Amino acid sequence: MKAIAVVPRQAGSAHLTEVRKPSVDDVPGGRGVMVRVLQVGLDGTDKEINAGVYGAAPPGDDVLITGHESLGVVEQVGPAVTELAPGDHVVARVRRAGSSQYDMLDMPDMTTDDAYFEHGISRVHGFLTEYYVEEPRYLIQIPEHLSHVAVLLEPTSIVEKGVLQADEIQRRLKVWRPRRAAVLGAGTIGLLATMILRNRGLQVTTLGQREAPYLNSDLVEAFGARYASTRATPLADVAGEHGFDLVFEATGYSPIVFDAMSHLLAKNGVLVLSSVTGGTRRTEIPSDAINLDFVLGNKAMFGTVNANREHFDAGVRDLAVAELQHPGWLSRLLTHAVRGLDHFSDALDQLSAPGAIKVYVEVSS
Ligand code: BGC
Ligand code: ZN
Repeated sequence: MKAIAVVPRQAGSAHLTEVRKPSVDDVPGGRGVMVRVLQVGLDGTDKEINAGVYGAAPPGDDVLITGHESLGVVEQVGPAVTELAPGDHVVARVRRAGSSQYDMLDMPDMTTDDAYFEHGISRVHGFLTEYYVEEPRYLIQIPEHLSHVAVLLEPTSIVEKGVLQADEIQRRLKVWRPRRAAVLGAGTIGLLATMILRNRGLQVTTLGQREAPYLNSDLVEAFGARYASTRATPLADVAGEHGFDLVFEATGYSPIVFDAMSHLLAKNGVLVLSSVTGGTRRTEIPSDAINLDFVLGNKAMFGTVNANREHFDAGVRDLAVAELQHPGWLSRLLTHAVRGLDHFSDALDQLSAPGAIKVYVEVSS
C-alpha cells in the first residue's frame, strides 16, 4: 500500500513509497483494529519535519511515515475487540507509551522519557498511508454526525489539555472563576482555543498579526469573540486595566511569551504555552520587571504538549457543542483539501497558501 515518508533531518525528503499493508494480527491477543485512513490534517510540525528540523524514524528504520492528525474508519477488528466495530469512525491518539511512570499510567503525553513516541513525528510511523492497525485504547470513537469535522479533533485535544490543566493548576485559588481570556494566534490552534473558551462562556480576545477583516478574524467574531491585530494594537493596550485570567499562547513565535507575561496576564492569572518552536531564536527581556510582576501577582505559566484520551473526549464534546451552536463554523476551518496521497506535495505547498487554515489530505472516501 502507499504511504508518505520522510528521511528525518533531511530537508525536502517527503516522498510517496510502497509499504506492507498491516494486519489485525500485528497486535497480540486478538486486540488489533484495522483502520482505513480517510483524512489526515497537516500543520507546522509536518512543515518542520519536511524541512528536516524535527522528527525521528522508528528505531531500526531509515524513514518515517508522517501524518499525525487522522480520521479513519474501522475496517476489521481482531476477535478480542469489543469496543469498536467495522464502520465506526475513529481518530487515533498521537503519543504511545514509553517507560516512565506516567507512561505506565496511560499518560504518555506527560512522559519524562527523553525520547518520546509520537505517530508521524517521533519514532513511530504516522497515518499518511492507506491503513494502520492499532490497539483500541489508542482510538477515539467519533459520533457519525461529527465525522465531517473530526480531522480537527487532534489539534482540538491539544487545546483541551492546556485548558484542563490550567483548571487543575488554578485549584490553588479555591474560588477561581475566570472571566476574560486571551488567545495568542489565530491559526487552527488559536481558533479552536477561541471555540473552547467561548463554549465555557468566557469573554475571549483572540490576537492575530493581520488586520481584520479576513477569514480568521471573521471566524473569531462569528464565535462571539473579539479579534485584535498585533500590528494595529500594542499588546499592552489589548489587556485593558485588569488583564486576562487565562492566556493561551499558540503563535509559534516565542518572544511573544515574554510580552504576554508582562502585559497580558491578570493577577492570579495563568499563561498556557503550546507552541512547538524548533528554532534557535534569542531575545532580550526585562527580567526583573517580569519576575517581580509574577511574584507579586501570584501568576503561573506552564507548557503543554500532546494530549491524553480524556482530552480527546473533551474535544469530541466541544466539537459537538460548536457544531450545534454554530453550525458550519468548523467546516469553514477546513480550507484546503488535497485528494490522494499522490498529491501530498501540493498539500505541503498549500500550508503556506494565503487563506489556509486547515490543510488536509483526503486519503480515501
Ligand atoms: C502535535 C502534537 C505533538 C507536538 C510535538 C504537534 O504538532 O499535534 O501531537 O505532541 O506536535 O511533537
Ligand atoms: Zn500537530
